[in-house]
Amino acid sequence: MNFGKKILCIGAGYVGGPTMAVIALKCPQYKVTVVDINEDKIRQWNSDQLPIYEPGLDGIVKKARGLNLFFSTDIKGCIKDADIIFVSVNTPTKTFGLGAGMAPDLQYWEKTAREILESSEGSKIIVEKSTLPVKTAQAMEGILKTNENDSCFEVVCNPEFLAEGTAIQDLLEPDRVLIGSHQTDSGLKAAEEIVKIYANWVPKEKIITTNLWSSELSKLVANAFLAQRISSINSISALCEKTEADISEISFAIGSDRRIGSKFLNASVGFGGSCFKKDILNLVYIAESYGLDEVAEYWEMVVKINEYQQERFVARIVNAMFNTAVDKKIAIFGFAFKANTGDTRESPAKYIVKKLLEEKAILSITDPQALTNARMDLAGMDGQIAFEADPYKAANEASAIVLITEWDEFKRLDYDMIYKKMRKPALIFDGRNILDHQTLFSLGFDVYPIGKPSLTHSH
Ligand code: NAD
Ligand code: UGA
Repeated sequence: MNFGKKILCIGAGYVGGPTMAVIALKCPQYKVTVVDINEDKIRQWNSDQLPIYEPGLDGIVKKARGLNLFFSTDIKGCIKDADIIFVSVNTPTKTFGLGAGMAPDLQYWEKTAREILESSEGSKIIVEKSTLPVKTAQAMEGILKTNENDSCFEVVCNPEFLAEGTAIQDLLEPDRVLIGSHQTDSGLKAAEEIVKIYANWVPKEKIITTNLWSSELSKLVANAFLAQRISSINSISALCEKTEADISEISFAIGSDRRIGSKFLNASVGFGGSCFKKDILNLVYIAESYGLDEVAEYWEMVVKINEYQQERFVARIVNAMFNTAVDKKIAIFGFAFKANTGDTRESPAKYIVKKLLEEKAILSITDPQALTNARMDLAGMDGQIAFEADPYKAANEASAIVLITEWDEFKRLDYDMIYKKMRKPALIFDGRNILDHQTLFSLGFDVYPIGKPSLTHSH
């Protein structure tokens, strides 16, 4: 088949894979190729067992793969061939050197820039899809401008706002698509090329174009605002536990104000995921590097409250178990950082499990999709851990259930049956407030929700 433009995406992860699958589905006139240095991942993208679990993704990949969607490890060849290159490599928090623990580690991103430079001929549009610090495009251009042949590049920024678990829905019907470019003739022309791609299925009024730096910074700010809402409601959940106010009633009451809105007000055991913490720390680092200490401190508190929420949750568990969890079996319901994904990056479950192991508890972990990742995450950790696909088995003879991920599967369990097979008193800690607490209490459980009075029989 003769294609119009050729799109390449470097990085076949949670963003690159689903985003390109949707672009391929919606734009049959483009040839879309996704490359990665990880050969195993590419092999999986070309198989029936995709490397990530995301509702709706399988069907789309099956429809487009082999027609206009391809997965490859030939990075050099594909760069040479491409007209438009999306860069969607990982940008984790730096663990070493200057800015360790705060700044993003840009080594993968810089390697990609150099690979593009080495393998390119002619003119190409480079699209920043990864989340990057504001002004990164300048650095990207700095590298790309060192070319010694006739290649020329225009860098635009098209940050991704999809959330895991709802990625396909988010991509098919985005609230907005953001495209930032230099406000020069060539910059605006490049932005128009990217607008053209999305205009195949996204209404024009939802495609926002801005200058490059606004686009880069908007991505960090969007994540910071979302995380801030969670930390705000979680901070109030601590106050609720002291005052007998109910956090769900408060979320509803304040969320009914249209100026506040109802989304992202679910109190929880804390936010996880690969991006919120990383992106806020990135924002904090940028603010600090410009000498804006008050701005940095303001945003840093969002991360601190998130840590506090997890610490509080563990302390409540230990305290309710008569201050000792030694040799007690605890069932951990959920290891993914949220429902509908197998992703465990920065999941609060890791912290909670680590702390409960330090208390010498015996843990049985169950999760519908994340057990493979959980096994890898906990490999080498001291203590007694079992992984159990069946939640009933995980809870068998346990003294407590600790619910960390809001999977629908956990709502539908037969808690009467579970209760009968647990050690008494049987405790349940609902870190997501998704269970029917009154019913659990009437079955015999001592129930510990987040931000609500506990319901206990014995103490
Ligand atoms: P990921 O780790 O799942 O995928 C990144 C991929 O890039 C990996 O498969 C890695 O092997 C590959 N890679 C690294 N260096 C490479 C190179 N030189 N050449 C080819 N491939 C290379 O990461 P992700 O979750 O997809 O995130 C990617 C970016 O998107 C990050 O900046 C992240 O902040 C941002 N983002 C993520 C999400 C999300 O929900 N995960 C949402 C929006 C934005
Ligand atoms: C988030 C953003 O929602 C996306 O827009 C963004 O593109 C993405 O980060 C990114 O840049 O990586 P994601 O982390 O996949 O998406 O998932 P969210 O739905 O935002 O949830 C993040 C965490 O917050 C989860 O642990 C979730 O359980 C928690 N959360 C969410 C709450 O505790 N309470 C809420 O009310 C909402």
